[in-house]
Amino acid sequence: MSDVELPSPDDSQRPAPATPAVEPSDWIAEVISSMSEPPTAEPTLRSTEEPSAEYEPVASVSSGSPAGMPGGAGTFAEMAGIAASIADREVVHYSARQIRRAREVLTRIYAIRRTVRFYPLDHPAVNEGVEQLSTSLRTYFDEGVDVQFAFYEGEVLLGEQLLAEESVLFDQLVRDMTSIGVGTLVVQRGVDNNELARAMALLALDAASVRKAGGIENMAAEAQLVHVRVGGVVALEQVEQQEGDPADAANAAFGSAVSIMREIDRLLHNGRHVGSDKIKGVVRSLVDNVITNRYAMLQLTGLKNYDEYTFYHSANVAILSLALGSLITNDNRFLSSLGVGALLHDIGKLTVDINILNKPGALSAEEWADVRQHPVGGAEMTALLPGVDKSAVVTILEHHMRWDGAGYPSRTPRRKQHLASRIVAVADSYDAMTSRRSYSAARVQDEAIALLAESADTSLDPVLVKLFIQMMGLYPPRSVVSLSGGEVAIVLAPNETDLLRPLVRVIATRAGDFIEPRDVALAEYPELSITGCLDPRTLNIEVEDYL
Ligand SMILES: [Fe+2]
Repeated sequence: MSDVELPSPDDSQRPAPATPAVEPSDWIAEVISSMSEPPTAEPTLRSTEEPSAEYEPVASVSSGSPAGMPGGAGTFAEMAGIAASIADREVVHYSARQIRRAREVLTRIYAIRRTVRFYPLDHPAVNEGVEQLSTSLRTYFDEGVDVQFAFYEGEVLLGEQLLAEESVLFDQLVRDMTSIGVGTLVVQRGVDNNELARAMALLALDAASVRKAGGIENMAAEAQLVHVRVGGVVALEQVEQQEGDPADAANAAFGSAVSIMREIDRLLHNGRHVGSDKIKGVVRSLVDNVITNRYAMLQLTGLKNYDEYTFYHSANVAILSLALGSLITNDNRFLSSLGVGALLHDIGKLTVDINILNKPGALSAEEWADVRQHPVGGAEMTALLPGVDKSAVVTILEHHMRWDGAGYPSRTPRRKQHLASRIVAVADSYDAMTSRRSYSAARVQDEAIALLAESADTSLDPVLVKLFIQMMGLYPPRSVVSLSGGEVAIVLAPNETDLLRPLVRVIATRAGDFIEPRDVALAEYPELSITGCLDPRTLNIEVEDYL
């Protein structure tokens, strides 16, 4: 394939006239180059990440409830009730000094949970983190009290004391605890570092793993934790409902992403801007859903709308980027910023003449220059929004720069794309290739995956392409495929251990007769294989009807 095709997917299908590269305006170049380091530190890949021992505050602290969570803190009576429900012990009344020290303990818990995700329990980094936590806990033990935390509706309590500031500062930790079903956490005198390390490893697990293992209380019992006790989440009916119906939650998050793009467009054409709080709220919901309902979200990313291409494309790119980003790090600050950059990556196109964007066939040199201005225009627009992280602005600016630096706008001196920009470039390329445009047909998914693979190390970051393909499989969710027996099926979820054998839903026989859909895990049927992707339109199949 030609070198111009990726990762400039909006240009990829068009013949490219020779035009000078668009340079960032002086103003935006100044903003970007004023940053000696990328504004949000890039997390490196998990295998090499040095976890920070320090607490990293989340990018945006919100006084509201996490998306999908019940609104607001409970009443005092409820809080007292929650506190009283801590295990079967009396609630400790902590002194003001002990309450102040809770922040240090939470900081240590936050840090050690990160560390145990990357290192085995006998690694020196884990030992060091556990020792730090142990030191903080000992200050309580030496005063004759255990440490009792409760997590409830976005708040954290020590004993019966609501920790208002810490609830905001540690909102990611509180949400993580809630998502794995930890309502109460008690660390008792007599705990040693080994038990503490095993307990922190349990608390570092994600919701899906905990669910699969039968719940956190079950896991704690199996791990024979004696001095660390976890209790279930109290009064979280709404959360359970959300977990019980991931497709609904995923649909709502996707819908909110499309809606906010519509609103941004409408306001923009009236000379106004949407508030960054609103954008961040949508992104927070996307992050939550991608982490808890990854496959439900990935199934949605094939949703297209020809007339509202940019809105749907933006939502798709945000979800794909977050799914890919969350394979690299769970750092909420990075993911939030990545989500904002991904959702708004093409915001600059909202001011480009729609007739140019939708023009079938080749563009004139002037039209081409207009289209290629959109990263700079989008970065300028976003930089004006108060509260938007600078790395999101950088992502918008850099999303067409390419891995090899040959894209646009050109930078002198050349600098490697920020990690978030490289992630968005992969997601952008995939979604654009699988979308129908006025000037090109949609590619089927396996063809798009093959093209991504071809672009690794030229236009796209090869490591990210590899991770993306591992995440999506060779036949991504929503692909309509033919099986070796002649049946037609729709891919539901990839199989991480065998990219060629996803979970599929068979919908038609070899003879072409539609049947009652049945799910088949191809991993369990070695005699069956996928022979290739089919174009659903030629088969008159509405994928949506079968999901
Ligand atoms: Fe773009």
